[in-house]
Amino acid sequence: MEFKSLLIGEETVKKYLSPEDVIACVEETWKWYGEGKVVMPNKITTDMSSLGVAGWFNSMPAYIGPMDVAGIKLVGGYDGNKALGLPYIKANVLITDSRTGMLRALISGDYINDMRTGAQPAIMAKMLAAKTDVVTVIGTGLMGYTSLLCMSKVLDIKEVRVCDISDEAKEAFMARFPNAPWKFVNCKNNEEGCRGADVIITVTNANANLVEEPWLKEGSLVMTMGSFRETSFDVVRKADKIAVDQVGQSLHRGNVKELAEMGEITADSFDIIIPDVLAGKAKARTSDKERIYAQIIGTGMLDVALGGLLLKKIADAGEEMPWVDLSK
Ligand SMILES: NC(=O)c1ccc[n+]([C@@H]2O[C@H](COP(=O)([O-])OP(=O)(O)OC[C@H]3O[C@@H](n4cnc5c(N)ncnc54)[C@H](O)[C@@H]3O)[C@@H](O)[C@H]2O)c1
Repeated sequence: MEFKSLLIGEETVKKYLSPEDVIACVEETWKWYGEGKVVMPNKITTDMSSLGVAGWFNSMPAYIGPMDVAGIKLVGGYDGNKALGLPYIKANVLITDSRTGMLRALISGDYINDMRTGAQPAIMAKMLAAKTDVVTVIGTGLMGYTSLLCMSKVLDIKEVRVCDISDEAKEAFMARFPNAPWKFVNCKNNEEGCRGADVIITVTNANANLVEEPWLKEGSLVMTMGSFRETSFDVVRKADKIAVDQVGQSLHRGNVKELAEMGEITADSFDIIIPDVLAGKAKARTSDKERIYAQIIGTGMLDVALGGLLLKKIADAGEEMPWVDLSK
């Protein structure tokens, strides 16, 4: 029997998965996770630097029950990539047959990774923000772009404030939204960006206090997405509620990691677990006055689910893809 393992490149992924598809799939997958219909071990990191390779990669497996899709995302950072004209971050998604383990598809995972990352703050802001008139983006790189792109699909935004240490990055970011229905404000510093903002998102590779607690207004929502510290400890400590996308991994990475290491934050500190809210098991915001801090760690179930959705769309369209039969 012939078994086709598809090989799917970036252009095909972009053709079949619109930002709207990605947002809907991320939201649904989170809900299934909250309902206990997804199996997802914590991601593990393979850091190759001790053996002289300037790179690391994360292994992020998941099984999505309602889609019957099993797979893994491998995503890493490679220091030498820029010199080769490649992005620092490289992602691949493997989808296997859940009953036999046969490879169903090997998918270039960059667009999936970028777009699912941006879909997360869009859904979170929809669920957690008291208001979304003024949105501040700190970190105007690739994930900042996909975040605002996805937020623009689901939120009514009147003003976008942009903050970055690089003027060039800010200019390039704003140029990517030529017909934006909102007013752009190019901020001189983060304080100007944060004071009075309804929603603040940090998506940088910094390890610094980019947001200070006294700058935050009543009812604000702060979401951090970077891999390291992006706010002062008090932004987390003094928040009325702390929200996360997943409990297990939130203590070991990102903005909350140091507070967890000091014992100030534990799994019990998280008031809002987004998948549980979507599954109807818990409440999100309960007052417009609450200041909510959210950490978005990013999970492999989203990439695997999107890989499954992509395969279904390709099959429905009947388009032939390049394939190999690995059993031969
Ligand atoms: N949570 C998730 O699901 C998820 C997924 C993918 C990537 N990430 C993380 O998102 C972050 C951004 O990734 P990216 O691909 O957009 O990177 P990028 O290099 O494209 O952009 C990062 C931007 O941050 C800016 N920056 C750096 N230091 C800053 C500072 N002190 N103040 C203001 N701006 C600063 C840079 O100038 C740059 O414009 C990384 O930490 C990455 O690991 C998170």
